[in-house]
Amino acid sequence: MSISDTMCDAINRHINAEFYSSYLYLSMSAFCDSIDLPGFAHWMRVQSREEYDHAIRLLDYVQDRDGRVALLPVEQPPIEFDSVEQVMEATLAHERHVSDLINGLYALAAQDGDFATQVMLQWFVNEQVEEEKTARDVIAALRMVQGHSDALLLLDRDMGARTAGAPAA
Ligand SMILES: [Fe+2]
Ligand SMILES: [Fe+2]
Repeated sequence: MSISDTMCDAINRHINAEFYSSYLYLSMSAFCDSIDLPGFAHWMRVQSREEYDHAIRLLDYVQDRDGRVALLPVEQPPIEFDSVEQVMEATLAHERHVSDLINGLYALAAQDGDFATQVMLQWFVNEQVEEEKTARDVIAALRMVQGHSDALLLLDRDMGARTAGAPAA
């Protein structure tokens, strides 16, 4: 059975939200680079790539269900941030927002009696739990570092060790 127009439109809007996430983290990566935190810059770049992959995962799903992908304009992300702490707080806030969007999509799929979309979205529900936890862990690490540049240097080195696909903090 093909996907309903309502569900397809909602997923297309969410594809846009995932591309925005990718763009936001790429902008955060550039900021981290500008304040000489190459590890955080690397971590954000990996994060950006993962968000791109989320968008593609949804795009593939729409096509598998015989729906029509509609790519919408991606909003400009912020360029400047106050600090690396603010970057991570903004990351957590953004991930919480995305979790709300995923929950909304899931509710719509349930209302639509669309079981295939519910099953597909379960991956995203789990992913959001991970995403929020990871952001909280990095914020906690930054709180412990507070103002100690030698500790921040070590944390930055850890952040730089993140490999693609592994949710490292
Ligand atoms: Fe995502
Ligand atoms: Fe995310």
